[in-house]
Amino acid sequence: MRLLITGGAGCLGSNLVERYLPLGHDILVIDNFATGRREVLPSMPGLTVVEGSVADPMLVGRAFSSFRPTQIIHSAAAYKNPDDWREDAATNVIGTINVVEAAKRIGVRRFVNFQTALCYGRPERVPIPVDHPLRPFTSYGISKAAGEAYLALSGLSWLSLRLANVCGPRLAIGPIPTFYQRLKAGRSCFCSDVVRDFLDIEDFFLAVDLVLRDDAPTGFFNISSGEGHTITDVFDMVSAHLGIAPAEPVPVVSPGPDDVANLVLDASHTEAVLGWRARIGFAETIERQLRWYDAHGVSAIHSHLRPPTAMEGA
Ligand SMILES: NC(=O)c1ccc[n+]([C@@H]2O[C@H](COP(=O)([O-])OP(=O)(O)OC[C@H]3O[C@@H](n4cnc5c(N)ncnc54)[C@H](O)[C@@H]3O)[C@@H](O)[C@H]2O)c1
Repeated sequence: MRLLITGGAGCLGSNLVERYLPLGHDILVIDNFATGRREVLPSMPGLTVVEGSVADPMLVGRAFSSFRPTQIIHSAAAYKNPDDWREDAATNVIGTINVVEAAKRIGVRRFVNFQTALCYGRPERVPIPVDHPLRPFTSYGISKAAGEAYLALSGLSWLSLRLANVCGPRLAIGPIPTFYQRLKAGRSCFCSDVVRDFLDIEDFFLAVDLVLRDDAPTGFFNISSGEGHTITDVFDMVSAHLGIAPAEPVPVVSPGPDDVANLVLDASHTEAVLGWRARIGFAETIERQLRWYDAHGVSAIHSHLRPPTAMEGA
């Protein structure tokens, strides 16, 4: 395949480059390195990297015209400054429209979008089924939901994968790298009183393999373990792995106003339609992540959340 990956220097994008490049596929990455890093991409024949923003329609148009992709993975997203609505809208809405329009012009075979579970907003029921209403209330969630809605309007052969917290190489968001880095540096930690759904990247890969096939069903799919775990569960695992137990029990704080208490996705529709379900359990997923940090360290951590006021600057 001729695979175009937007945001290909980010966590998920770069892992997909590493998965598909050695199989002989040609890959073109478009990334502005807002949260991704050029140096994580291998210098190998078959990989072309275009530095720039998906919000630039000329750049996107030129990349599509010269590369002529057959499959798209749209992984680029802006989220790192929750107050920068314009950047979120430029990347997640206009950028998605630019990529969708270019894909229509070229006539791609398949368009795979990655969606945040924050598109559901504060869910009425958990685990959240894929037909749950979308009620995003943060800049990231609102803009990602709008981008996804334009894709659904496109007439392309498209899928939108609504993702749980995917764990894998270079993960630089969320509690696992944060606890790992802070505990090792002897800094204090706190746990937000929320429940999350953690998915191992090997399970995520199998889902992406499936949906890139021309004959795979289209539409919206939750890609998740379907199991909820508290942030304190994660903290306990990181602390045990590092052998660093804090003197006092770790404080548990209320989630901030921009956070959601329980984000666990119901993937039963995905299993029924795609025949996919997560195989790797929570403890193994977290342990594999921690072993990766042991070997490679933790890079700069990004977040789409503001720190709870009580713990700001902690
Ligand atoms: N990792 C997860 O667990 C998870 C969960 C839910 C949804 N997602 C979605 O998956 C996608 C990838 O997430 P990730 O965790 O790899 O994040 P990431 O920040 O590591 O990757 C996003 C990439 O997009 C790039 N980017 C940002 N703005 C851009 C722009 N205007 N033009 C081109 N590139 C731009 C960044 O530099 C980065 O390389 C995102 O769409 C995100 O919303 C990820």
